[in-house]
Amino acid sequence: MSSPTLKVGIVGLGRLGQRHAINLAQRVPNAEVVAACSPVPAELDWAASQLGITTGYADYDALLAHPGLDAVFLVTPTSLHADQIIAALRAGKHVFCEKPLSLDLADCLKVEAEAARHPQLTIMIGFVRRFDASYHDAQQKIAQGLIGKPYLVRSQTCDQNDPSGAFMRFAPTSGGIFLDCSVHDIDLARWLLGNPAPKRVYASGTNAIHTGLQAFGDVDNGLATVEFSDGSMASFMASRTMAHGHETLTEVFGTGGRLAVGSNPRLNRVEISDAHGVRNECTPDFYARFTDAFLIEAQEFTDAALGRRTLSLTLHDATEATRIGLAMTQAMREARPVEF
Ligand code: NAI
Repeated sequence: MSSPTLKVGIVGLGRLGQRHAINLAQRVPNAEVVAACSPVPAELDWAASQLGITTGYADYDALLAHPGLDAVFLVTPTSLHADQIIAALRAGKHVFCEKPLSLDLADCLKVEAEAARHPQLTIMIGFVRRFDASYHDAQQKIAQGLIGKPYLVRSQTCDQNDPSGAFMRFAPTSGGIFLDCSVHDIDLARWLLGNPAPKRVYASGTNAIHTGLQAFGDVDNGLATVEFSDGSMASFMASRTMAHGHETLTEVFGTGGRLAVGSNPRLNRVEISDAHGVRNECTPDFYARFTDAFLIEAQEFTDAALGRRTLSLTLHDATEATRIGLAMTQAMREARPVEF
């Protein structure tokens, strides 16, 4: 008997959507990409010529009506996520959606309410780091008590500087550096600390290179501290101006020890000794760092939608990450602590 496959529609074929499309089409055994959706004809041409996905829709509602479609994979601008998730659920489709769930808390809660009406459907927000082998191992070790009681997470997402400033095109819709980048660290901190409730947030930021971000209330380097009601804390840094590459680093301090993931953001195990000293090359970007995790994430979604496993993260986790990210953004913009 042949194993069942999940018939998926990929929605959004930009910077990250193309990566997800390649994984789903070529590397996830039980997924079949039956159609693609993008308002950009060249992106649909790419899906047809590179992946053989010959059915393309410019219109999202038309994709949802594709015969036999089981699931959508949303890799679209964040401002579209909530409405597109709700439409998919109402059409009876399983949903994978990239982070963040939304930039608006009321929209997150609307999605949660709609999801509650469709308990048979799988819905997953792509907090990819939870599927990284090192983060997974750290979480297991904490759960086993290896470092005692965890009380502080210090986590950063730092991108290599792009002198072209191409990322500026995302600035009007990204929600700012905390909701775009730190939202990953926020999700990790909640997960690693056992989902404490946030109590108060402090934040600040600066524009070291990309001063144009100021027009959008955004910064190229941000710092934030979150106090949780159980006394635990998290401290976050996000940057778009690293000289050396992409560096995601997380430390968890516990009463009996400390775990660190990513202290040396080396590209591989080659150590170079030359006139500059002893060094490693660095991961250039988030995709190089999390290539395997993106694939495992897609496999977990597919297996969950096929009823073979339950998800390891909830929709409410995504709402909480947005709630904390919004408070961090407000604290920075208003230069004051924000209480929950
Ligand atoms: P992008 O701008 O490169 O791609 C967006 C895609 O959506 C394009 O293909 C565009 O044609 C398509 N699109 C726009 N309007 C549409 C509509 N109405 N219906 C269908 N398709 C539409 O953006 P990028 O960088 O790929 O980001 C997409 C999402 O992925 C964002 O929510 C972002 O936060 C998230 N992301 C997550 C990362 C992670 O580490 N998990 C890393 C980078 C992005």
